[in-house]
Amino acid sequence: MNEIYHIPAMLRETIQGLNIQPDGLYVDVTFGGGGHSKAILEKVKGGKGKLFSFDQDLDAYSNAMEKSSKVSDFQCFHDDNWQFVHGNFRYLRNFMDYYGVEQIDGLLGDLGVSFHHFDCPERGFSFRFSAPLDMRMNQSGGKTAADILNSYSEEDLARILYIYGEMNNSRQIAKRIVKARSQKAIERTEELVSVVIGKDVQEFKGTEVQELDVPTGAKKELAKLFQALRIEVNDEMGALREMLIAAKELLKPGGRIAILTYHSLEDRIVKNFLRSGNLDGKIEKDFYGNILSPFKVIEKGLTASTDEVERNPRARSAKLRVAEKL
Ligand SMILES: C[S@@+](CC[C@H](N)C(=O)[O-])C[C@H]1O[C@@H](n2cnc3c(N)ncnc32)[C@H](O)[C@@H]1O
Repeated sequence: MNEIYHIPAMLRETIQGLNIQPDGLYVDVTFGGGGHSKAILEKVKGGKGKLFSFDQDLDAYSNAMEKSSKVSDFQCFHDDNWQFVHGNFRYLRNFMDYYGVEQIDGLLGDLGVSFHHFDCPERGFSFRFSAPLDMRMNQSGGKTAADILNSYSEEDLARILYIYGEMNNSRQIAKRIVKARSQKAIERTEELVSVVIGKDVQEFKGTEVQELDVPTGAKKELAKLFQALRIEVNDEMGALREMLIAAKELLKPGGRIAILTYHSLEDRIVKNFLRSGNLDGKIEKDFYGNILSPFKVIEKGLTASTDEVERNPRARSAKLRVAEKL
């Protein structure tokens, strides 16, 4: 893979937040292009520390294997200090049990998708390219975006577009989708884009990849729609909730959890969980009114510096939350 797989967001701040000990045991639940993993590994290599890096995407897995041949990068695919886990982080607890790990010193989650997902035309994550509407991070199973578009009720489509895409016109778009699919199933990105913009979308002529000529005015709306579908396809909120519960159980007292979020819904889940220790965000208090939480919040939603956003515009929506297990 020669493209830039991903540029890690808020790398320095995240590593600082994790307060890495050379002999500690760490988990990066979202390996992606390995930028954060590499920085953690640099701190535990030489010590007795270990890093487990998860990713459910086979492309990230190949990426990890490719990196393994570069001595300056990951020295080998798995060694005493590093283990790659090809799996969904919702099964964090099961994987840790499998590897005989009872407690961890830190966990990093850099949520969502990598640049690779958007930049890889055939995966269907981007409205910029003509492709089948897939959007699965784990391509070995589960429903695709096309399955959802062609089988969900109008009501359910409107709900996911509103909740995961924050689309104010979710009902209108859901209606158009249901009308269009009654004529012909919606299978490809250009078909979905045409439904939203109300006319056939053309391809740019003469480009190597089949790039779509999407009107500038429609891009914001389409970004929201594609985000909503991607979140539903991969059950991102469900996986996040399960992983947070497992992380709470696994973290040692003094251990840190650092999560980078990219939209308000996932950020709210993380914020509430790190404040209260439960998914409802319900703050428990003792008899004297002191807050009873398993965490001390260290970082409350730090955003990327202007410099970083200039260098890497995709970091502009990143929010870092860090907490320490008490
Ligand atoms: C934002 S990228 C991480 C980038 C990474 N920090 C880096 O420095 O390159 C998120 C990655 O997490 C993976 N991912 C998302 N949800 C996952 C899940 N539930 N289980 C495992 N991997 C997941 C995606 O496939 C993607 O590669």
